[in-house]
Parts: sequence; C-alpha cells; structure tokens
Amino acid sequence: MSPDELKKNVAKVAFLHLEQQIQPNWVLGVGTGSTINCFIDCLTQSSQTFASAVSSSVQTTERLKAYNINVVDINTVPEVMVYIDGADEVDPSFALIKGGGGALTREKIVASMANKFVCIVDESKLVDCLGEFPVPVEVLPLASHPVATQLSKLGGHAKLRSGLTDNGNCILDVSGLEIDEPDYWERTINDIPGVVTAGIFSLHRPQEIFVATADGSVDHRVGP
Ligand code: 5RP
Repeated sequence: MSPDELKKNVAKVAFLHLEQQIQPNWVLGVGTGSTINCFIDCLTQSSQTFASAVSSSVQTTERLKAYNINVVDINTVPEVMVYIDGADEVDPSFALIKGGGGALTREKIVASMANKFVCIVDESKLVDCLGEFPVPVEVLPLASHPVATQLSKLGGHAKLRSGLTDNGNCILDVSGLEIDEPDYWERTINDIPGVVTAGIFSLHRPQEIFVATADGSVDHRVGP
C-alpha cells in the first residue's frame, strides 16, 4: 500500500469505530495533518451527526468549514468528548512526538480538554524511543536564540523552521535528543523561558491508537 492508502485506511477504520459512539450533543476535537484530513473526509460522508468541532489549526478549520461542519471556539465548549489526531512518532507507551505540521500548541490544548484522545498513524511512525524525528518546540520569536542555547545545553541541536505558527510564534526543530523519559523531557523543555510548548505529548497521551500496516490491516491498540 502507498503512504496515502495507509492514511486513508487508518482514518476509515478509526472513523467506523468512532461512528458507533458519536452522539448528537458531542463536541469533537480535530487534529491537523494529512492523516486527519482523510478522517475529516470520512466524517463528511457519514450521516452521523454531532454538535460541533473544535479545531487544532487554521488549516483544519478551513477544511471542516468547507464541509459545513460547525467549528466553535475552544473557549466556548465545556468539554471535548473525543480528540482525534495523527503523530510524527509513537513509542510503545503511547508517548508521542507531534508538531511536524506546526500545530502542536493548539493540538496539545485540545488533547488536554478531551475525555478521550485517539491517535491514528501508519506503522512508519512507531519507534522504540522518541527522538529520531526532530522535536518541534514552539517558542516566542523574541526568545528563539536563548531557547536554542538552552536546548543545546541539553544535548539538542535546534534548527529554526521558516515561517510562523498560527499563533504567530517560531518553531525550533530539535534533533539529537534521545527521549528515553518522555515525561521528564516534556517538562524540562516546557520549563525553558520563552518556550510555548514542546512537541512531546507524554503528559497527555492518547488512550487509543489505530496503526495501519502495509498488509492492509489496521491494529487497534488500547493503552493501560
Ligand atoms: C501536526 C501534527 C501531525 O499530526 C503530524 O505531523 C502527523 O502528520 P501527518 O498525518 O501528515 O503525517 O502533529 O502538527
């Protein structure tokens, strides 16, 4: 199967699973990226209704709105029933690296609000230890240099990504870190003054992961 077919497949299987649970009063959290775009396409083909969606990026908001899905402000919802998103890396304990698409901060906010976080990936995203994919770190533009210096003291090499996030901030892509203790690394990077969010999702891990494999099957894994 091609990478695109894997994404479509995992999105479809996760959607069919979720469709049975969706209720008309639900607020759904929707992530960002090419895999989630396939999930949004499935949503629009379903007759199952839900109240509204909260979005993790401008890109996702535009896609949802183009399909006439009611997108509401995060600040106006009491709770998010399910948040669904992709990832750049997934370790065996369901800790993630996210932010390849630059939406990490809003993604983490919505994940933190959700009663359940469901992650959809293909098997190329599975790793034994996080860190081969450079960790995206969203930083205030005025602090990109001092934050990069602090990250280098931790053993990382920070590269400034071109462009700004939806929040008007910069992203440093940090290579060379071996994220053997994801909770520690998430907290340590988050604690550097000027950091908005580290793209390590360890304190808010998904409870369920769907993994597409090359033979066409999709593995549904439920966390501890
Ligand atoms: C965006 C993300 C994405 O979930 C991650 O980059 C995976 O994207 P894709 O589904 O396109 O591989 O974290 O900020």
